[in-house]
Amino acid sequence: MTHIYNFSAGPAVLPKEVLAQAAAEMLDWHGSGMSVMEMSHRGPEFISIYKAAERDLRELLAVPDNYKILFMQGGGLSQNALIPLNLLGHKPAGATIDFIHTGSWSDKSIKEARKYANVNVVASSNTEVPPQAGWQLTPGAAYLHMCTNETIGGVEYQPDFNDPRLKDVTLVADMSSHILSRQIDVSKYGAIFAGAQKNIGPAGVTIVIIRDDLLGKALPVCPSAFDFKLVADNESMYNTPPTYGIYIAGLVFQWLKRQGGVAEMERRAQAKAELLYNALDASDFYDTRVAPQNRSRMNVPFYLTDESRNEAFLAGAKARGLLQLKGHKSVGGMRASIYNAMPIEGVQALVDYLNEFAANASNKP
Ligand SMILES: Cc1ncc(COP(=O)(O)O)c(C=O)c1O
Repeated sequence: MTHIYNFSAGPAVLPKEVLAQAAAEMLDWHGSGMSVMEMSHRGPEFISIYKAAERDLRELLAVPDNYKILFMQGGGLSQNALIPLNLLGHKPAGATIDFIHTGSWSDKSIKEARKYANVNVVASSNTEVPPQAGWQLTPGAAYLHMCTNETIGGVEYQPDFNDPRLKDVTLVADMSSHILSRQIDVSKYGAIFAGAQKNIGPAGVTIVIIRDDLLGKALPVCPSAFDFKLVADNESMYNTPPTYGIYIAGLVFQWLKRQGGVAEMERRAQAKAELLYNALDASDFYDTRVAPQNRSRMNVPFYLTDESRNEAFLAGAKARGLLQLKGHKSVGGMRASIYNAMPIEGVQALVDYLNEFAANASNKP
C-alpha cells in the first residue's frame, strides 16, 4: 500500500493503531462471536463498550461529575438547532442569544439560532477574535455561543475566563474541530458539543457535554430523541445510538490515554503547528490570513501568492502522497488539517514539499 498523509478537514485521519484494532476485532469482538455492528445496544457487550468510552472521555477532559456526556447523532450542525431547542424552554419569548462570529461555522450557528430567538452578534471577524473587552454582551442573554475553532477559516481561541462579565454567562462552545487537542476547563462552560469526525472517530457520533442544571429546559417542540434530558436519563440510549461509531471513538480515547492524554496532544499540536506556520511565514511564495494570536493549531489555511499554480501544487502534493490539501470551496486556496492523529512526520513531509515546490517554481517562473 502506498504511504500517504491525509490532511482532510473531516472525516479525517484516524490513528493507524485504532484502525488495525478495529480490523482485528471486526468479525469477532472479544470472543463474543459478533461484530460490534451486530450487537444490541442493550446487551452487556455493547453496554461495556459504551461505559468505557464515556469513562475514558470523562477522564481525558476531566469532566466534572455535575456534567453529563451524551453520545448523539445529527452532527455539529444539528446542535445549532438542538442547543436552542434544549436551552430556551424556561426563557421568556423574545430571549436573546449572544454570538461571537469568527467565521463560517459560527455564521451557520447564527442563522439557525434566528429561528428560535433574537440574536445579538457581540463581535465579528473572519480572521481574528475581536478583543474580549469590546464584546457587547446582552444583559440576561440566554447563553453565549462561540465556535472555538473555525475549521474553514482557521481561527482558534479560548475565552479569557478572568473577564468578570463571563461569570454569570452560560457559555456554549462548538469544539468540533479541536476537542481533545488542548486542555480545557469544562466547568467554565454550560455546554460543549463536537461532531466526531475530526479528533474523535467516524462521522455519525456527536458528543455533547452539558451541565446538569441545564437539563430539563427544552422547548415543548423539541423532538424527544434530541431532548438532552431524555438522552441523559437513558445514558444515550433513548433511541438506538450510533453503536459502531461509539466503539471506534472508545478505541480513540484509549489510544489518546496511551499517548499521554490531552496534555500530550496539546504539546504535539503546538509543535506541529509551529513547524508548519514557520515554513509558511518564511516563504514569500505562501500567504496566511489569520491574525497570529488566533491561528488554529488544527486547521491551517494557506494561499499560494500566485494562485495560477494551485492545480500544479495539488497535483505535486498528491504524487507525494500528501492528500486532501485543497481549501474549502468557500475560501479557496489550501488547507492542511493536522489533527491529533496526524504524526509530525506528516507535517514535516508537507513542509519539505512546500519548500521544494517554492524552490522549483522560482527556478521556472
Ligand atoms: C466547527 C464545526 N462545526 C460544525 C460542523 C458541522 O458538522 P456536521 O457536518 O457534522 O454537522 C463542522 C464540520 O466540519 C465544523 O467544523
